[in-house]
Amino acid sequence: MEVINAHASATLALQGGHIMSWQPKSETEPVVWLSRAANFTPGKSIRGGVPVCWPWFGTHATDPKRPTHGFARTVPWEVTATRALDNGATEIALTLVETDQTRTMWPHRTKLSITITVGPRLKIALATDNLGNEDAVIGEALHAYFHIGDIADIRIGGLEGCDYLDKVGGGNVHRRQDGPVVFSAETDRIYSNTDAECVIEDPRLKRRIHVAKSGSYSTVVWNPWTEKANKMGDFGPDGWRGMVCVESANAAENVVTIRKGSRHTLAVEYWTEKYSG
Ligand code: BG6
Repeated sequence: MEVINAHASATLALQGGHIMSWQPKSETEPVVWLSRAANFTPGKSIRGGVPVCWPWFGTHATDPKRPTHGFARTVPWEVTATRALDNGATEIALTLVETDQTRTMWPHRTKLSITITVGPRLKIALATDNLGNEDAVIGEALHAYFHIGDIADIRIGGLEGCDYLDKVGGGNVHRRQDGPVVFSAETDRIYSNTDAECVIEDPRLKRRIHVAKSGSYSTVVWNPWTEKANKMGDFGPDGWRGMVCVESANAAENVVTIRKGSRHTLAVEYWTEKYSG
């Protein structure tokens, strides 16, 4: 599905309720990154865009055979409403389609919906309604891939002083962030207990990308670097250099308990500003 309005353009896949690209009119380059070598295969996650990780993040806690990052990103969703807003932005609402397959992997009675606003800012709200008779515990992420000039040149502010789990090499080592995040090797970190806005400063593209959020207490920062990207096979040559994931999540110690009959919403807002520094 393609959205083009006075403010921006975006593409969406019904599989996964997945925003694949977003570029506001003020930018000459995309803000949300999509791999040139992305595979569009039913049942497989698309490399890039904003995959929805739900109802768990990463490897399933007790059954490693279940899909990594949950199943929401690889099953069909349906559009439930579309609306042109007074300011010229476009709002699209989608709901995950439940099937026997999804119910086998997730027996809880929940409804997952996403509302996407394509405008000068990209806004995404992921809502989980617990319709069952017992509490449900979920992990989740809006696993955004951002387009950057070069991974070696960017820095990410907003996580200074935060504790994180360093997942590189499967080590799961606890560390604390000192200063902005910079990159010189594979990076895979879950920052916990933070709802801070992050800012990606990109001197090559001369812009800052803002990543603001609510209802999210973990931030995941990921870049696979050369070797891992080559193994993954859907980054294309050097694709990893031009992307960084800043994921607004509830993961590890921040998984969310949703009381029966209540709703939990994780919402994000992305926008850019020119960087003159
Ligand atoms: C990140 C994880 O969120 O997603 C990484 O922290 C993982 O460990 C990456 O490699 C990509 O995952 P996938 O399943 O989309 O290849």
